[in-house]
Amino acid sequence: MTEAKRLAGERAIDYVEDGMIVGVGTGSTVAFFIDALARIKDRIRGTVSSSEQSTRRLQMHGIEVLDLNSTGPLSLYVDGADECDPHKRLIKGGGAALTREKIIAEASDKFVCIIDPAKRVDVLGRFPLPIEVVPMARSLVARQIVAKTGGQPVWRDGVVTDNGNVVLDVHNLSITDPVGVETALNQIPGVVSVGLFARRPADVVIVGGEPPLVF
Ligand code: A5P
Repeated sequence: MTEAKRLAGERAIDYVEDGMIVGVGTGSTVAFFIDALARIKDRIRGTVSSSEQSTRRLQMHGIEVLDLNSTGPLSLYVDGADECDPHKRLIKGGGAALTREKIIAEASDKFVCIIDPAKRVDVLGRFPLPIEVVPMARSLVARQIVAKTGGQPVWRDGVVTDNGNVVLDVHNLSITDPVGVETALNQIPGVVSVGLFARRPADVVIVGGEPPLVF
């Protein structure tokens, strides 16, 4: 799958235009995008990063990382996903960067999602759904997740997000109404963000391959 990730990441460069500020996601597929972006870094005005991990890689390449508060809306956001359905709705957050990823996706006109073929599913939920939670609300949120979804939340022990929060991964879901589930889980006090990208799905999906599939 590494080669498929590389092909997807490099294909996403086609969406980068001169003078853009590019939103950059997190993960192993995005790492290939960042490396490809480095080759054209003089053509862009900078980036907005979704994680400390991506920031380090961008800065290692000498690519400027800007504060979203100073850039205004972005034209382009490029990020990976853990699952993608035929409607371009996603599960994200396997790398625990879901909150900043969701913020940048919302701030961007075009969200280009780069995945390997194993990420494609008909119904979301085989990959445990990540939910970022304020630490003191962990047990409360877990109980309400069980009541609302029937899924099994598991604390991602030892993981602290870039925002100082914890992550619950919800197992045994079959998400036939992604917008409804995203909306319901967002209502629980203590939930910072839900790794379902259904209300703001991707606009373009690139599936790595020879040649890449774009839909
Ligand atoms: C990070 O929190 C995630 O949303 C990633 O985008 C997702 O886990 C995909 O990661 P890979 O590109 O490493 O598979």
